[in-house]
Amino acid sequence: MAGKYVAAIDQGTTSTRCILFDHDGKIVATGQKEHEQIFPRAGWVEHDPMEIWGNTREVVGQALARGNASTSDIVAVGITNQRETTVVWDRTTGQPVYNAIVWQDTRTGKICDSLAALGGGDERYKDRVGLPLATYFAGPKVRWILDNVDGARERAEAGDLLMGTIDSWLIWNMTGGTDGGKHLTDVSNASRTMLMDYRTLEWLPDIAEEMGIPMSMLPEIRSNSEVYGEGRAAGFLAGVPISGSLGDQQAATFGQVCFERGMAKNTYGTGNFMLLNTGEEAVPSENGLLTTLCYKLGDAKPVYALEGSIAVTGSLVQWLRDNLGMIKDAPEIETLAAGVEDNGGAYIVPAFSGLFAPHWRSDARGALVGLTRYVNKGHIARAVLEATAFQTREVLDAMNADSGVDLTELRVDGGMVGNELLMQFQADVLDVPVIRPEIVETTALGAAYAAGLAVGFWSDLDELTAKWAEDKRWEPAMDAGERDRQYRNWQKAVTKTLDWVD
Ligand code: G3P
Repeated sequence: MAGKYVAAIDQGTTSTRCILFDHDGKIVATGQKEHEQIFPRAGWVEHDPMEIWGNTREVVGQALARGNASTSDIVAVGITNQRETTVVWDRTTGQPVYNAIVWQDTRTGKICDSLAALGGGDERYKDRVGLPLATYFAGPKVRWILDNVDGARERAEAGDLLMGTIDSWLIWNMTGGTDGGKHLTDVSNASRTMLMDYRTLEWLPDIAEEMGIPMSMLPEIRSNSEVYGEGRAAGFLAGVPISGSLGDQQAATFGQVCFERGMAKNTYGTGNFMLLNTGEEAVPSENGLLTTLCYKLGDAKPVYALEGSIAVTGSLVQWLRDNLGMIKDAPEIETLAAGVEDNGGAYIVPAFSGLFAPHWRSDARGALVGLTRYVNKGHIARAVLEATAFQTREVLDAMNADSGVDLTELRVDGGMVGNELLMQFQADVLDVPVIRPEIVETTALGAAYAAGLAVGFWSDLDELTAKWAEDKRWEPAMDAGERDRQYRNWQKAVTKTLDWVD
């Protein structure tokens, strides 16, 4: 095989990255660029799809230049993306009809309520799609665009418009765009639309009809590891097979080599997402988790996961930096938090996009409680970090209840796992060891693994498993009584966030 590297494109909520991995799974070079976060109104979050496509091209160029590599060194490309974020575009012009509506956006609350009112409430589609009706998912976002952009519904019904999550948008552009671009998605992204039957892995025309989405807009559903096509954009990975695509949380699960039933990972990004591999069995949740696709490799049977999605964790630190100006950069939060013994009685519940798992309350809004004249910046910084750990505890409890087995350790990755104070507190609050691998870029690594497997760069899952190595482990050290006291306070704080939106 001529190529030496696999390129992973990680299109995330705040930035787009390209990482080149060598055969050992080691990082060779990285390119990265942030994109604009557009907040037109309270609760609305948008991205410019054209900016994202431009940044994708740019970061691939950066990674190749920094790795002293050319297109001929790249054996395959894997894509991984922020999930649920939805684009609708014109198949003839390639122009989006509206900005991408981001997964955090809550504008579809009324659409979700009206669907729930048809019968069955929030669980109307849950037994077929694995998800409760919530603003998080893609289908209602398409409906909003068709209802609110002039002429969009007519154009969609005439077959002129395509919809897709960011994976589809990128693959369509990379494989030719208006000149024969392939309109595809993969099972993991499709499982976040509310439009795919998680058992058959096919679209559900009756739900699409109820949501007012013409079937002609939907991409073809493919596995996570197969050759979808090749790059055709001039000077941009032209001729290189695109052979892996997974939503970013599924990619991180794959990069953490959670290939066995019962293995779980938690990624600390803008939000937190814990996925538990449930094997070939799709486990319905009784405790506020999502039943979702984990991965499907080519023609092999699909592997499922239970997921606990938390909307706001790392983005709370960004909020402290950008909206309140309390810190200059994200790492400063640890210094500030380390200056105090504890949270001083303050708890912050960052229900900025409502509350996701396990509550699924779109009507919740954030709360900062327990304030006295004693509370200072350090306590707030601590409460911000602790919010991540407490939300994760809620999800882990739900996972233990749903699976009937207690997790005995947790593999972690993502931007916040460099924060030692948070990781120790996380182990304390969960009462299980928290383990960080040597390569924390597991999202990009998972996409690279899926792409590399499809073209024979790596041979099988055992080969990938052998590459995983532990970097650091945090053991629980908190007294049980103190853990219970703090968690009770947290749960009380959560109740203060509910019923804020009518
Ligand atoms: O479901 C949303 C998730 O995929 C976003 O991940 O890492 O871009 O915040 P991230």
